[in-house]
Amino acid sequence: MISKTMQDALNAQINLEQFSAQLYLAMSAHCTGKSFKGFAHWLMVQASEETAHAAKLIGFLLDRGGRLELKAVAAPPTDFGGVIQVFEETLAHEKSITGRINALFEQARNEKDHASEIALQWYVTEQVEEESKVGEIVDHLRAVGDQGGGIWYLDSKMGKRVIG
Ligand code: FEO
Repeated sequence: MISKTMQDALNAQINLEQFSAQLYLAMSAHCTGKSFKGFAHWLMVQASEETAHAAKLIGFLLDRGGRLELKAVAAPPTDFGGVIQVFEETLAHEKSITGRINALFEQARNEKDHASEIALQWYVTEQVEEESKVGEIVDHLRAVGDQGGGIWYLDSKMGKRVIG
């Protein structure tokens, strides 16, 4: 049986993953509005990954006999500026999620909750990948700038992302 403190922390993380999905959906719509269909597609795929992250945590919580307590998901902003700002904000958001995952991992370790620690290892690894891939996109965007043909080339590349 999972502890009440770990159950609360996992429920909070589930809400954050759901917020991440909302945030990336809003960013995707913003990019669509600017005719950047490739960036919009990438962010839509990212939103579906975040929904999967929440679902995976829900499955774990229920497997441990925990109680799922879904809360209202905060509304994301509707305007994000240029594409570079969108991905800089994505990177900042992922870094904040990494901090939360690390705190959860630490909590599991302190509680000697080995099952949670092992489940959270997947998220620790996933955050390394998330920060790396978004960091690369930010670097590419900064290199080509907001104007000119480079950003449209990047847009076409981003449109090729597949789920998984
Ligand atoms: Fe679920 Fe992007 O971290």
